[in-house]
Amino acid sequence: AEQTYDYDVLVIGAGPGGYVAAIRAAQLGLKTACAESRETLGGTCLNVGCIPSKAMLHASEYFEAASNGAMAKMGVEVTPTLNLDAMHGQRLDAVKQLTGGIEYLFKKNKVDWKKGRATFQDAHTVKVGEETVTAKNVVIATGSSVTPLTGIEIDNAKGVVVDSTGALELRAVPRTMVVIGGGVIGLELGSVWRRLGAKVICVEFLDQILPGMDGDVRKEAHKIFKKQGIEFRLSTKVTGVTVEGDKATLTLEPAAGGNAETLEADCVLVSVGRKANTEGLGLEAIGLTTNQRGQIETDHDFRTAVDGVWAIGDVIPGPMLAHKAEDEGIAVAENIAGQTGIVNHDVIPSVVYTWPEIAGVGLTEEQAKEQGAVKVGKFPMLANSRAKTNHEPDGFVKIIADAETDRVLGVWCIASVAGTMIAQAAQAMEFGATSEDIAYTCHAHPTHSEAIKEAAMAVTGKPIHI
Ligand code: FAD
Ligand code: NAI
Repeated sequence: AEQTYDYDVLVIGAGPGGYVAAIRAAQLGLKTACAESRETLGGTCLNVGCIPSKAMLHASEYFEAASNGAMAKMGVEVTPTLNLDAMHGQRLDAVKQLTGGIEYLFKKNKVDWKKGRATFQDAHTVKVGEETVTAKNVVIATGSSVTPLTGIEIDNAKGVVVDSTGALELRAVPRTMVVIGGGVIGLELGSVWRRLGAKVICVEFLDQILPGMDGDVRKEAHKIFKKQGIEFRLSTKVTGVTVEGDKATLTLEPAAGGNAETLEADCVLVSVGRKANTEGLGLEAIGLTTNQRGQIETDHDFRTAVDGVWAIGDVIPGPMLAHKAEDEGIAVAENIAGQTGIVNHDVIPSVVYTWPEIAGVGLTEEQAKEQGAVKVGKFPMLANSRAKTNHEPDGFVKIIADAETDRVLGVWCIASVAGTMIAQAAQAMEFGATSEDIAYTCHAHPTHSEAIKEAAMAVTGKPIHI
């Protein structure tokens, strides 16, 4: 007789990967439960990641526009006062509403929420808190957490040496904030506190910020953030941090070795990357091992090496992004239901929500050139009528196409609304578009998106407005 289980699917973790997988599985008629150890659903993204960081970015952008003369330039003269408590209040409100929304969706779709930490007993038996749950399929969607720096102790409650969670919650604007790591978190949260009045110094190990992004974008972004007042210490490593009272002293060294120096700060943000969450999950009980980076490997269908056990999101290789986790959540549920769930990992946009925003999809120019000859079209936002009218001159759009077939291989933008603009580039690439396809698509005027059209026209050397 076929073995019976409590559930067809048990998802471990209710982040954007897990909650989406659970909802889709239930929509497909599978009896589904989702285990989550946090008090609220939504994972890193909704609780301490994408959503609260965007709430602080959005609010601090208003404050800066009011205080740095950007609004006055448009005839709106105000003298702003910072009410940091109210700013935190609206952040917490956004989180509450959105995490509550997932709870509602679970109820609506009949997904059972199992509260507690999940540990494998065997491949089909998982202990969640005190309860034992059996399932025909188990999806690991446990996400990621901050990578610590050896010898540097993070204490979010104290607020002196913090990770991104602590940096979202600072009760006062630090006078000096040192950001360790010039990646996405460092630049986003560094921007928040710089806008609110902190002197921000970013220490980056490499000789440039934003690793993984297109070279031109990295250079331009560095220039823009420097102009905004962030001080960069590139090719530099932090070798230690000591805390005395509410002050931190950092020891810095050139990355290549050399004389050490010290730096004082009221707040130190450790943002040197994130690592997969597998500790305490009981992977040894099911004979599943992790790769060198501590991630769980899967095949294209998101199956792990253990039958009936699947994995998605930040805990598997690939960019650690909410939308990548969500798409994998849908695909894994469809595959469990016997359908064909696919994620095209070549076309996953990434966005840095600074001002201006930085976005890209597909290959960088450097990667594309390794594969063959390319043509590149570039168009500055300065020549885009809407950006110019809005006093947003910084940035550009860059399109990289195959020299022979003209197929678009990558699109990169720095623009106030780059995160929204990149969607059309991703869609064009999904449809296998050429730069000519984009150049001959009618774009509404006056929009920032026209810069994408003009960059596509520039691939063949014929933009109109430059
Ligand atoms: P997670 O969201 O990490 O969720 C995993 C969940 O599993 C957690 O709630 C955890 O409590 C739970 N869990 C873990 N182990 C167990 C267990 N054993 N039992 C029960 N539950 C368990 N991405 C973007 O795309 N856009 C952004 O703007 C963005 N901003 C970010 C800002 C910050 C400050 C941070 C830190 C991240 C940001 N990210 C952003 C990344 C994004 O949050 C992650 O890529 C995304 O949350 C990954 O989803 P996930 O479902 O794989 O894991
Ligand atoms: P990251 O990988 O983006 O950047 C880390 C940076 O730290 C790199 O530039 C790296 O060279 C540097 N670094 C590493 N070790 C160092 C050291 N010892 N000293 C100085 N610099 C060092 O990681 P980050 O910013 O922590 O973000 C983690 C993840 O969260 C990212 O992978 C990202 O995908 C996700 N995220 C996404 C956001 C978005 O989509 N807008 C926003 C925030 C986070």
